[in-house]
Order: sequence, then structure tokens, then C-alpha cells
Amino acid sequence: MPGDAPSADEAPVDVSRYRAPIGTHDVLPPESNRWIALVSAFACRASRFGFDLVVTPVFEHREVFQRVGESTDVVRKEMYDFTDKGGRAIALRPEGTAPVVRAFVQHHPPTPWKVWYVAPHFRYERPQKGRYRQHWQVGAEVLGSDDPDVDVEVIALAHGFYRGLGLERVSLLLNSMGDERSRPAYVAMLREYLLDHAGELGGEFRARVEQSPLRVLDSKRDDWHDVIERAPQLTDHLSDESRAHFETVQRRLDDVGIEHALAPRLVRGYDYYTGTTFEFVSDALDAAQNAVGGGGRYDRLAEEMGGPPTPGIGFGIGIERVLIACDAEGKLRDASPMVDAFVVNGLDPGSGEVALVANELRESGLRVERTYGDRSVKAQWKAADRSGAAFGVMLGRAEAERRAVAVKDLRTREQVEVSRDALAGWLRARRDEAGR
Ligand code: HAM
Repeated sequence: MPGDAPSADEAPVDVSRYRAPIGTHDVLPPESNRWIALVSAFACRASRFGFDLVVTPVFEHREVFQRVGESTDVVRKEMYDFTDKGGRAIALRPEGTAPVVRAFVQHHPPTPWKVWYVAPHFRYERPQKGRYRQHWQVGAEVLGSDDPDVDVEVIALAHGFYRGLGLERVSLLLNSMGDERSRPAYVAMLREYLLDHAGELGGEFRARVEQSPLRVLDSKRDDWHDVIERAPQLTDHLSDESRAHFETVQRRLDDVGIEHALAPRLVRGYDYYTGTTFEFVSDALDAAQNAVGGGGRYDRLAEEMGGPPTPGIGFGIGIERVLIACDAEGKLRDASPMVDAFVVNGLDPGSGEVALVANELRESGLRVERTYGDRSVKAQWKAADRSGAAFGVMLGRAEAERRAVAVKDLRTREQVEVSRDALAGWLRARRDEAGR
């Protein structure tokens, strides 16, 4: 980043020993199968809730993200920004809401506009477990309605996603950031209260209060805890309209059976929030990175980005953190799809039969594996066992004369002969019976 001297771990890369850049990671099989399971679960759920996919560029004009808030860490310290060859100030997406709102303002689709996304995000943070310089989010945004039912639907979309994965240690924290009528007076009161205590707490505390009194509330510093604990709470100073909206959201969450805890000091790290804000936290993760997702209302952002006044609400869920939470709770252990059949060639290696059979079975919808090159039958059976396939399909000479194959159940080791013409149907029937 401009002005930062590289630290030891960021010294120039020795090209003979390439590694993924610090704070990034490769996702390899079989782990990548967990990603497919997670993203497709989210995609199916979002579709049931009436959301369609939106894909925005990985980079935007830097100004798009400045709307997120000049006082926020994400914009001030963590943005991967650069000037491109055309002299434009560009930033890699640090968060997902601003690009979606930019796209909304640019294309003015009919409202309510309900969209979901899966995308990499970039933040120049100090990497640690659950905190990366490139992380991935699935998220959803709704533009065009301030109905509290939308808040509840959006929260329900995320809530059921965690539950669907089997995560039981994820809970929902809820707050309201109020509106323009309630917030400025509250922030002034909070600033005054905090500055009254700045004497005891020192220069850094004072500087943070001067910069953003709200964000001090979110601090996890032990020595500030008591003062923060006694600070006035925004939810005690909401306008009538804001309070009524927030109470309706809470009541309707109760109606649909979504447990939530009020968190009056929950201040999410962006300036765009108005009204309902929320975070999903897992007590299976380290406290510093326990947020597995978060979001809220941003009823003024579209207008600030040059569009018509349009309320909005959404959330982002960190894929890597959800997977860490799954590990901690022993969920989504192995999402690799089972191989339905492994074709073993007992015929002349040059016959081409194994390619033909594998192709035919794959085209009929089965997951099929085989070995390549000239491997002994014994080695092929070994590979079949290692693959975890349900069945081994043996192309043998004697069977071939009867236009048949030998099919071995690799669990029970039972073997039957199946006619070549019936093979695909036979394997599919076994797969369906097993519910694979
Ligand atoms: P966020 O809270 O900054 O919100 O990020 C959403 C989620 O992304 C976090 O709860 C966490 O799970 C994950 N996450 C964030 N930073 C990292 C990181 N460095 N490494 C790994 N995971 C991370 C937003 O981005 C908002 N755009 C959410 C939103 C959507 N609000 C309204 N609509």
C-alpha cells in the first residue's frame, strides 16, 4: 500500500519458490467440493426466496467504495487500490454492497430488485485464521422496499442457510442504527459522554472518539470496556418511526421462530447503515473473527450514489469462516460426490472399449472413473477401491463374448453379470436406490 514499507514477510518474492501471496489461499479438491456444496446450497435457498444472481466486476472506480465511508478501516487502510494504465483510480472490491448499488443505479431495474452474489473480496488486513487478504462471500441485497418484512426475509435467508448446513452454534445479533432524525443527536451525545472519559483512557481513545464515536462502541479493548458498557445506547434514542420499524422486525422474527439477541453496541464497520443491522456470530470461532456473516439496511446509499431515493438491505457471509465453523462443529465433513462406477479394462488395451463404456455411462448421467495408460487389471482394481466408487465394472473377455460385463459391488464384494445394453440403467437404478 502507498507509503507502507514492506514488512519482512512481504519482501520481494523469490520467483524460484512461488507461493500464493500472503493472506490468500488456493482451494483444492476435495476441499473445493465443500465450496460447491456451500455455494449451491446458498444458490438454491436464494432462488426459493426469489433472488437472482448478479455478477459485478472484481474492480470498480475507487469512488464507488468511498461511499462506504471515509472513516472506515475498509476504505482508509485496507483497500487494494491502484492507478490503471489509463490513469483511473481503481480498487479491487473490498465489500459487496457498493458495487451492487452502483449496478442498480446504472441499470435502474424494476424494484424490488432481489439479487445474490458469490465473489472474492480484497482487504489489506493482517492475515490470521479466518482473516485473509482475499476472502469470498456469498451475499444478498434487496433494493426498493423499506417494509420490515423485507428485513425479516433477508435475515431468514441467511439464518436458514447456517441451519441447513447443520451449524448450531451460530447466533443472531440485532441492532438498529436509527435514521437521520435519531442518529445525529445520539452521536453528539455519545461523543460528549466518551470525551468526558477520555482523560482516564488516553490519547488513542480520544483520537478514536474524534474520528468516529460510534465505532468506539464496537471496540474489544478490555481497558475501554467499562466506559463503553455504560455509554448511552442508540436504541434508547430512536425516532418514533425507527423504533416502530425495529420493533416490527423483532416481532416478526419471533413469529417465524428466528431467535435473536439485541446487541445495542453492535456497530458494523460501514457508514452506509441505517435502521436494522445484524451479525451472525459463531461461538465455535475465536472471538476476534467470530462473525460468520453480517449486514443491514442502507436506505440512503442509492441516493448517495446518484440514484433515486431507494431503500436497501442485505448481508454478506464469509465462505472461509463458515467452513471453519463447519469444521469446529463437525459438519459438511466430506462433500465429495461418490463415484458411481469405476471401469476396469480386462480386454486388449488397444480395444478402445473402456473409453466407449466410460463415455456412455457419463453421458447417461453417472459419475465414472477409470485409469489411463497401460495398467494391470490388479492395479486398476486397486485404483477402483481407492476412488471410493460404489461399483467396479469389469470389461472381461468371457463376458464380452456374451455382450455383458461383470459388476462388482465394492462394499460387499458381490459380483453379478449385467448385459452391456442394460448397464447404464442398472447402475442408475442402484444409485437412485442408495439415494446418491
Ligand atoms: P462485512 O461484515 O465486512 O460486511 O463482511 C461480511 C462477512 O465476510 C463477515 O461477517 C465475515 O464472515 C467475512 N469477512 C469479512 N472480512 C473477512 C476477511 N478479511 N477474511 C475472511 N472473511 C472475512 C460486508 O462486507 C457488507 N458488504 C455486508 C452487507 C451486505 N451489508 C449489507 N449488505
